[in-house]
Amino acid sequence: RWTPGHVIDELVEGIRAQVGEGRVICALSGGVDSSVAAALVQKAVGDQLTCVFVDHGLLRAGEREQVETDFVAATGVDLVTVDAVDQFLDALAGQTDPETKRKIIGREFIRTFEQAARDIVAGRAGENADDEHPVKWLVQGTLYPDVVESGGGAGTATIKSHHNVGGLPDDLQFGLVEPLRMLFKDEVRAIGRELGVPEAIVARQPFPGPGLGIRIIGEVTADRLETLRAADAIAREELTAAGLDDTIWQCPVVLLADVRSVGVQGDGRTYGHPIVLRPVSSEDAMTADWTRLPYEVLERISTRITNEVDEVNRVVLDVTSKPPGTIEWE
Ligand code: XMP
Repeated sequence: RWTPGHVIDELVEGIRAQVGEGRVICALSGGVDSSVAAALVQKAVGDQLTCVFVDHGLLRAGEREQVETDFVAATGVDLVTVDAVDQFLDALAGQTDPETKRKIIGREFIRTFEQAARDIVAGRAGENADDEHPVKWLVQGTLYPDVVESGGGAGTATIKSHHNVGGLPDDLQFGLVEPLRMLFKDEVRAIGRELGVPEAIVARQPFPGPGLGIRIIGEVTADRLETLRAADAIAREELTAAGLDDTIWQCPVVLLADVRSVGVQGDGRTYGHPIVLRPVSSEDAMTADWTRLPYEVLERISTRITNEVDEVNRVVLDVTSKPPGTIEWE
């Protein structure tokens, strides 16, 4: 019978067998997957682990603080935060193709971790620095659906290059530890609860590794990120206030940065960008249905976003299931 406890014991054994005495760094994003992966590795080989959190500037409001305070308090992991906002924005400048953006973000992620590992070995970061055992392993919270959709499953075609599966550089300097790669999201949540990861993190809705970078349709810039971050914060606030967090699987908020439409506010004409709301219901993200949100909640979100967010004069609702639409727009 499948129980979280049995699975944890097996995964912990597997991690110990795989990494031996090598030092491990974990790609912590603050989402359920990487948090549970980190908690598992912490349980297996805690004194060999350093978690690295990359602030790539593609995060939502409040996310960095949530990782730096809540997660560290709950698990006691050794955490290093890398501020890489300029590096990512420079690398993404002028890029509009979704796969190109995903690959750039994936590549910069890995490069950033490699640099962080060198810094840890050099004793410039982290409490667990140790010259005798340079970092050999990189933990990632890859799930089974990520593996399948990136063409990792037999006979499947690549749909999108998930940054934590596809798009890795040829000169990757770490072995990968991916303890969740045979699991679905609901199983990962059960394991997280069993491990004592706080409910606020375990129950968190999925958020893609490439972050807001794949929710800006068009070039990613600092100004556009600020616009999307503000709209996203309002949508999340209102969905939570309406008690809908458990009803929806996730609700991507997307900025159509290359589209403008005419509006009118007060006495003035506006020529702004649309924001798309993409609320979906799902069991495992392999398929999804669009969530029938109450009209009054949609109205509140729309009114607040158009009133409070500069540059946005229109809010539209995505009513496409998966398939044919994917959950994310890119
Ligand atoms: P799609 O858009 O493929 O998304 O229907 C399925 C689920 O995966 C999330 N997603 C990602 N997660 N790295 C991740 O860790 C990625 O590159 C990535 N792309 C999509 C998406 O939010 C949804 O939950």
